[in-house]
Amino acid sequence: MGQTMLAPAHIPVLVEETIQALAVQPGGRYVDCTLGGGGHAATILEHSSPGGQLLGIDADPEAIKIARARLEAYSGSILLLNENFANLQAICYRYDFVPVHGILFDLGLSSLQLNGNGRGFSFRHEAPLDMRLNPDQELTAADIVNTYPEAELARLIGKYGEEGYGRQIARRIVQERPIKSTLQLARTIEQVIGSRRRKIHPATKTFQALRIVVNRELENLESALGQAVNLLGYGGRLVVISYHSLEDRIVKQFMQREAKDCICPPGTPTCVCGHTASLRLVKKRVIIPSPAEVQMNPRSRSARLRVAERVIAQDEHYQIVERLCSSTEVKANAWRRPTLLKKLRQVFLTAA
Ligand SMILES: C[S@@+](CC[C@H](N)C(=O)[O-])C[C@H]1O[C@@H](n2cnc3c(N)ncnc32)[C@H](O)[C@@H]1O
Repeated sequence: MGQTMLAPAHIPVLVEETIQALAVQPGGRYVDCTLGGGGHAATILEHSSPGGQLLGIDADPEAIKIARARLEAYSGSILLLNENFANLQAICYRYDFVPVHGILFDLGLSSLQLNGNGRGFSFRHEAPLDMRLNPDQELTAADIVNTYPEAELARLIGKYGEEGYGRQIARRIVQERPIKSTLQLARTIEQVIGSRRRKIHPATKTFQALRIVVNRELENLESALGQAVNLLGYGGRLVVISYHSLEDRIVKQFMQREAKDCICPPGTPTCVCGHTASLRLVKKRVIIPSPAEVQMNPRSRSARLRVAERVIAQDEHYQIVERLCSSTEVKANAWRRPTLLKKLRQVFLTAA
């Protein structure tokens, strides 16, 4: 822990853009699914004061300790949990934190994890090949590197690292086994790639692939996005910052699909899917950091922010309208539209 506390602090990315995208308001309730060093969380709490509340989640127990210290001034307004966002819906219901005004995912790793915290995420620092966000998980990167069949290794490195030399790297890894440390693995990959790629370190893509597999990153993201929509109140915002194309593709496709009233294949004569839009794209295009931010924080260069707003899906709309029709209060108001709309907002922002 002492060593982690001394590591350079994580600089949060696209902070102003995130606050705007979340439309943070005083008294609002927010979920930060990737608490990290608590940078975004601190700014959300600042802007939602007075009365704001934040539920913060991180799979890494070290991140929770660091964020708790950083957010001490807000201790009455926060609930910080060492959890995986794959369980987002269950967590929010367990703590009665539904519906919410905004949900943030700032994916990937924090600088605290990358700057050699001994967990093996970085190919620049010597450490055992671990890469688990949560040390209670079973599978480690060493298990994959030293026990998976060559063909499976090649497939994973190609798919999750988008690495063109996946087959050659897998063959070399199998020849070198056992591979015990990050630097040993990085050297093995360098022997395959050599100076063929100059822009990024030869081990970047393979390390990304291993980390994604160890932590089931893409499966967890897909699952959590679906859960997030159901937790947002009407008008609530979903904001996701991703750092590589595999994540960003999932987020983009999810938001685009959820913003459509029909997802039948093109050319289907009449709709058979029954899908109704639950989101509206607030910005159609992705938001990226300014050149000044990239210069100040080079880690931000690959960041991509997407934002969508919860709308009432048509079937939900009908259910609510039906419920409201039978309410004596609405009958007494003889269906006056402003009253009805006001009630709709109330249902979505206050119902548990
Ligand atoms: C880029 S950092 C977040 C930094 C944070 N926004 C800040 O301002 O300090 C990403 C964090 O997400 C956490 N994380 C990644 N996948 C997770 C998951 N499935 N569940 C919970 N936390 C996760 C990582 O442990 C890491 O601390």
